[in-house]
Amino acid sequence: MSIPRMRLNGLRQNTVGHTAMGLWRHPDSRAHEYRTVRHWVETAQILECGGFDSLFVADALGPLEVYQGRVDAALRDGIQTPTGNPLLVIPAMAAATSRLGFAVTVSTTYEQPYALARTMTTLDHLTDGRIGWNVVTSALDSAARNLGLDRQIPHDERYLMADEFMDVVYKLWEGSWEDDAVVRDAVAGIFADPARVHPIEHRGKYFSVPGIALSEPSVQRTPVIFQAGSSPSGSAFAGKHAEGVFVSTYKAEMARDLSRRFRAQAKAQGRDPHDLKIFAIATVVTGATDEAARERLADLQSYTSLEGSLARWSALLHIDLSGLDPDTPLAHSETEGIRGLVDVFTTMDPDRTWTPRTLAEFVGVGGGGPLFVGSPGRVADEMEAWMETAEIDGFNLADPIPPTGHREFVDLVVPELRRRGRVWDEYEGDTLREYFRGKGSPRVADTHPASAYRR
Ligand SMILES: Cc1cc2nc3c(=O)[nH]c(=O)nc-3n(C[C@H](O)[C@H](O)[C@H](O)COP(=O)(O)O)c2cc1C
Repeated sequence: MSIPRMRLNGLRQNTVGHTAMGLWRHPDSRAHEYRTVRHWVETAQILECGGFDSLFVADALGPLEVYQGRVDAALRDGIQTPTGNPLLVIPAMAAATSRLGFAVTVSTTYEQPYALARTMTTLDHLTDGRIGWNVVTSALDSAARNLGLDRQIPHDERYLMADEFMDVVYKLWEGSWEDDAVVRDAVAGIFADPARVHPIEHRGKYFSVPGIALSEPSVQRTPVIFQAGSSPSGSAFAGKHAEGVFVSTYKAEMARDLSRRFRAQAKAQGRDPHDLKIFAIATVVTGATDEAARERLADLQSYTSLEGSLARWSALLHIDLSGLDPDTPLAHSETEGIRGLVDVFTTMDPDRTWTPRTLAEFVGVGGGGPLFVGSPGRVADEMEAWMETAEIDGFNLADPIPPTGHREFVDLVVPELRRRGRVWDEYEGDTLREYFRGKGSPRVADTHPASAYRR
């Protein structure tokens, strides 16, 4: 039996501080260059050299302002604030690469399906079929307030809207234009044959879209669908729609529970559970030897920002952590939300006393997932073991000091993973979906809900 491939995505946001807080100050970090085309081109080229399936670009639509009820701490450390548009960096990266895919985050809560269908098709054309969409429903109050709502639409209703949103875009992508609608017959003077382009006539609870898709179909038609919801409605949504799922846990056993839950949801929807590829956030700190890697980690940790970490976690948890003493064990804090936080960390390491400071140090470099630290051989061993225990398909690799962390991983660890047959030497297929479904299959599987709208 062949060894399963370890699928790799790079994880970034169009911002300064994403998963590592305060490390923009490290001399090897060029995180502040996020606003330049050359930074994204360099990042994409590094990942393509390393055989990564895609670069996942996260997004947030509002400033982080839960901590102290103000945006100040997020601004001081550039934590997801300021942030740029994730879609606009894709074409430049596509022009500078030929294989790397791009999984880009867009919210169904603040977009219109008709317009987004066109945006994604345009990107699928411009990338030659390498686009994926990380579907999010958005959770920041600050986004709601700045985007025309008094308060957020309730969580489960956001997923109901998202579900209808998906129906609309599937109809536009799969059902509006027939495969041979573009005839480009210069003699007859017909570019597209009107008889082969159909209005979708969608009238639902949240959206009304009577017309035809504005774009002619692209090679994948529907972009590869990613999702990261973990609530019951979020994982049901993923089981129905997602082809790639992102998970964020610190322990492989916790990832395994999630992975089983997602695959069971897919099965319940009549899909093959392995049509869902599952990726866990991870961070790698490597060096020529284990000792060099440990020194590198200590060096990175010396730049972490306590306040920045607390600002990020306050936003993630919707709890203001600013009132806590940094050195008092969290178990002594008596709010329900903080007990939830303590549960997560004590399950992970019951022997450790978790205070805001130890927690901030812990998440400061590798926020969101495991930290693999060591020589290339050790890192490869640990990644293989984690992947097997967690029953996942690969990793979303964060970079605490972009783009240096990704470059070190590709230079040092990827050759070792390639030797072990875990990372491919050559991409198999031309489109992102073919990396998921195999060469010759750029379109959604017959069991995927989008396929129901095919003509
Ligand atoms: C690995 C990972 C990446 C995520 N990326 C984003 C993102 O870029 N933008 C966003 O608004 N939410 C993002 N989320 C949040 C999820 O979309 C989702 O809101 C969250 O996991 C809570 O799940 P629930 O909505 O089902 O409760 C991410 C979550 C995870 C686990």
